[in-house]
Amino acid sequence: MSEIMLAVDDLWVEVGGKIVIKGISFEIPVGKTHILFGPNGSGKSTLLRTIMGFSAYKIIKGKIFFRENDITKLPLAERAKLGIGISFQEAPAITGVKLNQLLQILKNNGADIEEMATNLKMENHLMRDINAGFSGGEKKRSEILQLIIQNPNLVLLDEPESGVDIGNIELLGKYIDKLLQKEVHHNEMLGNIRSKSGLIITHTGHILNYVPADKSYVIINGKLVCKGNPSEVLEQISNNGFGHCEECFRREVIKDFKGICYETK
Ligand SMILES: Nc1ncnc2c1ncn2[C@@H]1O[C@H](COP(=O)(O)OP(=O)(O)OP(=O)(O)O)[C@@H](O)[C@H]1O
Ligand SMILES: [Mg+2]
Repeated sequence: MSEIMLAVDDLWVEVGGKIVIKGISFEIPVGKTHILFGPNGSGKSTLLRTIMGFSAYKIIKGKIFFRENDITKLPLAERAKLGIGISFQEAPAITGVKLNQLLQILKNNGADIEEMATNLKMENHLMRDINAGFSGGEKKRSEILQLIIQNPNLVLLDEPESGVDIGNIELLGKYIDKLLQKEVHHNEMLGNIRSKSGLIITHTGHILNYVPADKSYVIINGKLVCKGNPSEVLEQISNNGFGHCEECFRREVIKDFKGICYETK
C-alpha cells in the first residue's frame, strides 16, 4: 500500500456562518497530484484554505491527516512548518515587506533566490512590496516562486494559471511541474527520502498540459460528486458542463466516468 500524504475524512466546514464543505473524504498518496474541478462557489478554495489551516474556516466535523498525523486542530504556521504550502487564487498584497525579504524567510533548502526569480521572470520584482501593483500574471509567478523557495511536500494550488497568458502558462507549468516532481532529498535530521504531492484547482485544465495528474474530483455544492482520470473528467465537463455532475449530486451518487455510480454514504 502506498504511503498517504494527505487524508481528508468526512470534512464539514463553516465559513462566514455558512456550511460550505459538506462531508468530503479523499486521500492523496505521496508523490501523486490530484485535480479539483467545480463550478464557481462550489467550495474549492474553501477546501484548500481549510487544509492549509486559515482560522476563518471552522471545521465542524471530520478530520485532516498529514502523513498520518492528525492536523485538524493545528494552526496554519505549524502546518506550513510540517511542509504544506499554498498559492492563492487572488494573492493579497503585503505592503512594507519586500518579496526578497519573504523569500529569505521561506528559504529552507539550497535554492538560489536570484536564479529562481530570474527563471520565473521576477528578478525585477524582488525589491518591491509583495504583490503590490503586480499584474495578474506577475502575482501568479510570485506565488510559484515563493512555493519553490519554501519547498513544501504538499502543494496546494488555487487556479495557478487563471489570467495568465499562453506563453507564461508554459513557463509556470514547467516550474509547477518542478515543484511537484518527486525528489530524493537528504534531510539532515531525518535523513530520509521525500517526494511531493499536489492538489490543484483548475477551471481550464491548461495546467494538465504541463503537470502529470493522477486523479481528479468534481465538487458540487460542497460535496465530491465525480472522480476519475483528469483528462477524461475535463473532456466531460468541457463537452457537457457541470449539469450531469449536478444530477449526481441530486441522486447522491459518485460517478467515476466509466459509468459506475457509487452511493455517497
Ligand atoms: N468568508 C466568507 N464569508 C461568507 N461566505 C463565504 C466566505 N468564504 C467563502 N464563502 C462562500 O462559500 C462558497 C464557496 O466559496 P469558494 O471560494 O470556496 O468557491 P470556489 O469553488 O473556490 O469558487 P470559484 O471557482 O469562483 O473560485 C461561496 O458561496 C462563497 O461566497
Ligand atoms: Mg476559488
